[in-house]
Amino acid sequence: MKVSLGSKNCLYPMPITIIGAQVNGKPNFNTIAHVGIMDFSTISISLAKVHYTNKGIKENKTFSVNIPKEGLVKETDFAGMVSGETTDKSKVFEAFYGSLKTAPMILECPINMECKLIQTIEFPKHEVFLGEIVETFCGDEFLVDGKMDISKVQPILFVMDGTSYWNLGSKISNAWKVGKELVK
Ligand SMILES: Cc1cc2nc3c(=O)[nH]c(=O)nc-3n(C[C@H](O)[C@H](O)[C@H](O)COP(=O)(O)O)c2cc1C
Repeated sequence: MKVSLGSKNCLYPMPITIIGAQVNGKPNFNTIAHVGIMDFSTISISLAKVHYTNKGIKENKTFSVNIPKEGLVKETDFAGMVSGETTDKSKVFEAFYGSLKTAPMILECPINMECKLIQTIEFPKHEVFLGEIVETFCGDEFLVDGKMDISKVQPILFVMDGTSYWNLGSKISNAWKVGKELVK
């Protein structure tokens, strides 16, 4: 029997990300689960309007999306619990910059996407920022034959029910391939 859960968003787990933005001349880092893929080179991030990070994104029209590894779970949680408004988070991670100059990226994170703001969508309590990925960086230790190996990255997954962090399981099959077994 199916049980109705009302209106409940069940798109979790989501890879947890850390957004980097330059606010008042300093890097600020903000942990965000509500990220989306608009197309291969466009990302959406949904940030409550009250966040300090939003100021920097609006001012510079740039931000970064960083994928932390399992070993950074404490720092990741911390960046999502305190606001740059009251706590300086600029030294929680080591920042580096790319060609946009104002999108601080996190050296310790395996993957960094440097983004240019292309559109902002207003919701009553949130702002959804759409960013074009202008450059992606990956530590060479996470690459195999020049391609990113997700088992080496060990991203952190976030689940809303029980508000918990999970790690990645193992590969089960190849996409656009396993289904061919059902083709008649
Ligand atoms: C696991 C986790 C996920 C979060 N996801 C989001 C999110 O998707 N959108 C959002 O607006 N805030 C989210 N937050 C809350 C912000 O990270 C938090 O309020 C942070 O302190 C804001 O920092 P800032 O004021 O320096 O920008 C999340 C926090 C945690 C711990």
